[in-house]
Formats: sequence, C-alpha cells, structure tokens
Amino acid sequence: MLTESQKQAYAEQGFLVLPGFKKADAIAALRARAEAMVEAFDPGEQRSIFSTQEQDRKVDDYFLDSGDKMRCFFEEEAFDERGALRQGKALSINKIGHAMHAQDPVFRAFSSGPELAALARDVGLEHPQVWQSMYIFKQPGIGGEVRWHQDASFFETDPITVTTFWFALEDATRDNGCLWAEPGGHRGARGVLRERFVRESRRAWMETLDDTPWPSTTELAVPLEVEAGALVLFHGLLPHYSAANRSAKSRHAYTLHVTDASSRYSARNWLQYGADQAIPSF
Ligand code: FE2
Repeated sequence: MLTESQKQAYAEQGFLVLPGFKKADAIAALRARAEAMVEAFDPGEQRSIFSTQEQDRKVDDYFLDSGDKMRCFFEEEAFDERGALRQGKALSINKIGHAMHAQDPVFRAFSSGPELAALARDVGLEHPQVWQSMYIFKQPGIGGEVRWHQDASFFETDPITVTTFWFALEDATRDNGCLWAEPGGHRGARGVLRERFVRESRRAWMETLDDTPWPSTTELAVPLEVEAGALVLFHGLLPHYSAANRSAKSRHAYTLHVTDASSRYSARNWLQYGADQAIPSF
C-alpha cells in the first residue's frame, strides 16, 4: 500500500495524509447511518456532554459504560442557560461512540477490509486491534475545541503502539476546525507521553506524567487541511488539536484507535473488552 517514501515520511513526521482513501459512496453510507442513529436517540434520557476541557468532571457513567455501545454525546455548548437545546438535535451532537465498528454492519464495513489491513501492516501493526470508533460531528457554530493531547494517553500499551485512523467525511479547513499536529512531535525529546487517562472502577481522571509544553497553532504545529475522503494516519504520541468550529459548515470525521496485539494493553485504560468480547481487527 504505502511507498517507501510514504513510510519514511510517516516515521519522520508522525502522520501521513492519504487523499481520496474513501470513496463518496462509502462516506455517504456512513453519514446516513450516523444520521439515523442521532434521529433514533432520545435526548430526554441523557444529557451527557463530551468535553476535553474538564475531563475529570465530565466523566460519568454514561461515558464509562459506552466502550461496548453506540451512544450519542452532546456538544458542550448545545444547551442554553435554561437547559434547552440551542439548535436542533441533529446539530447538537458532538460525537457517537465507541463500538460502532464492532456492532453496526455499515460502520463495520467502513472500518475493515484488506486496504486498511495492508496499511496497518505498513505502519507496524501486524496484529491490529481496533479498540474504539468515534463519529465526530464538529457541528457548525458550536463544535467544541479539542485541546492538545496525545491519543496514547487514552490507549496506553507497552510498548506504545496506538495509531489513529482519522477519516475526513467532509472537507476540513482552518475555518471549520481541522486537525493541527506537530510534525515530528512523536519522537525525540518532545515525543514523551505527557498525560495518562486512568480508570479505577467507576472513576476516571487525567494524570500528568511530564510537563513538556504543548505546541501551539503559532509555534511548531501545522494545520492538516484535507478534503472529504482523505485518511489521516497518525502516531499515538503525536500532539494534535482542533479548534472550535465557529463557521456555518460542519466538519464530520470518523476515527479508529488501533493497537498491536503484541503490546501489553494497560489494565488502567478506561476502555476494556471483557473476556467474552472479541476485539475487532481489520
Ligand atoms: Fe486525539
């Protein structure tokens, strides 16, 4: 799948953009399925929001129990001061997570296949384990910022193997909150794991491990503006970020977090599969 120069670029930069990886019909099918899930979701039953700003306080049972489910999470700014939705339900959901790839046939088809398996092999994932899927809406006007972080904080393994597959389902630009990443920030002195999100029973919180400063949009980082269909592949230690979406256009994306079965998956990671649950592969 990947050429030698692509493999080299991935090793050096910590990320790789593959334009046109997914075709329009596959994207349309995934979007329609996500739309139907949101339509079927009764917001009365749950007001859980997803925020990376106050990770400790916002972790609740609805989140902790979502590892093997398909649940909708509201944008932090979805509600007004009286608790009413500011815009329609379909424009208020931050994401759906975290087991669509394991449970829904349309998502499963999008999240597996020989192309993904070959790509995984090319970046060192011989025995890929796909722990979670997220459909991210980045809604117009209220799509929340995702602060600087490394995905290895959420999927710690020894050695670190977590790799993110980030599919653009719509064009992502600086206006609607595209990804930003620090080229090469996954290696050397800056490629240190800064935080770890740990879970103990019904509690989970972020621990600081290292105070190496994050990059910023004015220093060290570059915007990853991509067209719908692109796949952005990135290393678990790569610092990345996305700004709030204040534009009138949504920025839908779909992500998979994948580790290699040869690395030891931490028992303190928030997401665990039971002994009776098979971890999906490609
Ligand atoms: Fe991330």
